[in-house]
Amino acid sequence: MTLPLPTVSAVSDLRAVVSGWRAQGLTVGFVPTMGALHAGHIALVTQALARCDRVVASLFVNPAQFAPGEDFDAYPRTLEADAAKLAQAGCHLLFAPRARDMYPEGFATTISLTGPAEGLESAARPHFFAGVATVVTKLLNQVRPDVAVFGEKDYQQLLVIRRLAADLDLETLIEAGETVREADGLALSSRNAYLSTDDRQRAGRLNVILADFAAQLEAGADVAQAEAAALNAARAAFDSVDYVTARCSETLAALAPGRLDRPARVLAAVRVGTTRLIDNRPASRCED
Ligand code: PAF
Repeated sequence: MTLPLPTVSAVSDLRAVVSGWRAQGLTVGFVPTMGALHAGHIALVTQALARCDRVVASLFVNPAQFAPGEDFDAYPRTLEADAAKLAQAGCHLLFAPRARDMYPEGFATTISLTGPAEGLESAARPHFFAGVATVVTKLLNQVRPDVAVFGEKDYQQLLVIRRLAADLDLETLIEAGETVREADGLALSSRNAYLSTDDRQRAGRLNVILADFAAQLEAGADVAQAEAAALNAARAAFDSVDYVTARCSETLAALAPGRLDRPARVLAAVRVGTTRLIDNRPASRCED
């Protein structure tokens, strides 16, 4: 298959291209993805292009971050369309490794995490961050970029990767990319493709509930009361709710009782039909 963008799957080929750029004194940006690209991914590529001379995007549906019974097999795989979108955005290279190269026979290493990886997503998906951290460490080591851009849509993942990069002395700067939203505020996600027409309409409520929750906190509401109200609204709107909560925006630690006393993040995970949606918003009072 001929793709509309230079594409490599072997780490040695990737390193040959990146070394050539380095030899010319060029800086390298990186956007890791699992494909099924939408405008949110393209915004990350555009951000990396604004920061670096050359940009690599990776496309790898990472089996290690899916538990048995999750949507690994159903996850949309749209390589040709993704390569066309990346080429149009100005991306310079697509790295699309094969599973057997990323996890060869005998692979036996997994990154273990605490701190921001604890709770929230980990409560529902205990395997998830170890799988993400392991593959992201491999990808950062393979590409060795100056800057890597991760979407704020997966806010806990962003903090986990930042912590990982600091703790393991990785030289790559981890940058956050803003969430891109539909007209009704629904955060773009590859998994939105699973939503039926009715589910899609209901999904738009998540952003509204979180925006209202953040506004309450910013207006000085009691954290526990605002959280209880947002949780009730989410329970009324969705089929099930994993969490709706406000946390410290730097560490995801629980907030002190009473009014907001530091920059916070409101975060939620809910199920609409068979689709699990996550989203988050910043919440800060003026005096923070
Ligand atoms: O956010 C994602 O798409 C994935 O978790 C990532 C960072 C590409 C790792 O597989």
